[in-house]
Amino acid sequence: SKTPVRVTVTGAAGQIGYSLLFRIASGEMLGKDQPVILQLLDLPQAQKAVKGVIMELEDCAFPLLAGVIATDDPNVAFKDTNVALLVGARPRGPGMERKDLLTENAKIFTVQGAAIGQYADPDVKVLVVGNPCNTNAYIAKETAKKFGRVKEGNFTAMLRLDHNRALSQLAAKSGRSVDSLKSLVVWGNHSPTMYADYRFVTSNGDNVKALINDEAWNRDTFLPTVGKRGAAIIEARGLSSAASAANAAIDHIRDWVLGSNGEWVTMGIPSDGSYGIPEGIVFGVPVITANGEYKRVEGLEIDAFSAERIALTLKELEEERAGVADLLA
Ligand code: NAI
Repeated sequence: SKTPVRVTVTGAAGQIGYSLLFRIASGEMLGKDQPVILQLLDLPQAQKAVKGVIMELEDCAFPLLAGVIATDDPNVAFKDTNVALLVGARPRGPGMERKDLLTENAKIFTVQGAAIGQYADPDVKVLVVGNPCNTNAYIAKETAKKFGRVKEGNFTAMLRLDHNRALSQLAAKSGRSVDSLKSLVVWGNHSPTMYADYRFVTSNGDNVKALINDEAWNRDTFLPTVGKRGAAIIEARGLSSAASAANAAIDHIRDWVLGSNGEWVTMGIPSDGSYGIPEGIVFGVPVITANGEYKRVEGLEIDAFSAERIALTLKELEEERAGVADLLA
């Protein structure tokens, strides 16, 4: 049988962790023939709760679960890890400014970036879920870079939830099945400024934009609905989206590791300068994945409206980058 893959999950005692861990252990992320070892990181005060989650993992008797460790030490959690899901983050507290949120998270992601840079498997695939996820991924990447072991491109951020939310809205509007929809892009930051671009989407060969034939719907309903979906779920559920976030994390890593079969998926990845995105910024773009690698979809036409929307989400990311620049110096 296969050698177990080491999977680190941070924020393991949290809501997303509770949806995520069981699906990883059951083989939904890396395949039904791939054993996994879970390396769970959370804060010291959450260790008791992590123990409870481990008791439940044991009680599932997952055949693929080859081991579990729990720790509050990032250097232990990221040791030799092959896949790292960085879910734990500092939430915005009462009276906390955006700048404080960025700074508090920058502290967490410099520590974790350094641990990954020194101790992870050099081919580790990193997905940052904890918000602000694009900038947190940027910070972890910039910190890990100093150790020269892990490629910068291995640090990614989660735009897949936005991608899946957009797919579902498009399916409902067009009357086509989610499964039939191809070639969606979500550009930019995982925030309400993200730009879900439906111009290239097809369903069984038909262009979905033409099928919907309602540009006002795109601007006034679709984009605001997808952009504010997180807030709508908090409003309805009294808690933030966790199961759908965990599901998107599974999709992101599964496609990265096992391939997207030629289809486009959205990943937040460090820019190579294409589409006018400054190099190094972690930005949602369309990729095709195969053999454990992603490849950007190049050369898409950017019309005036799209250019405007991409500039808006880029501006936000550049501000976030400027906000943490002193911490990375
Ligand atoms: P939660 O508050 O239920 O759990 C967070 C967990 O992280 C807690 O157990 C906490 O103790 C832990 N934690 C905090 N700082 C840590 C550190 N330095 N090291 C290790 N663990 C740490 O939050 P939930 O609902 O699980 O969400 C986690 C994050 O995911 C949040 O930042 C949230 O905004 C983000 N999120 C991102 C989405 C995306 O699409 N990118 C979608 C939904 C949520």
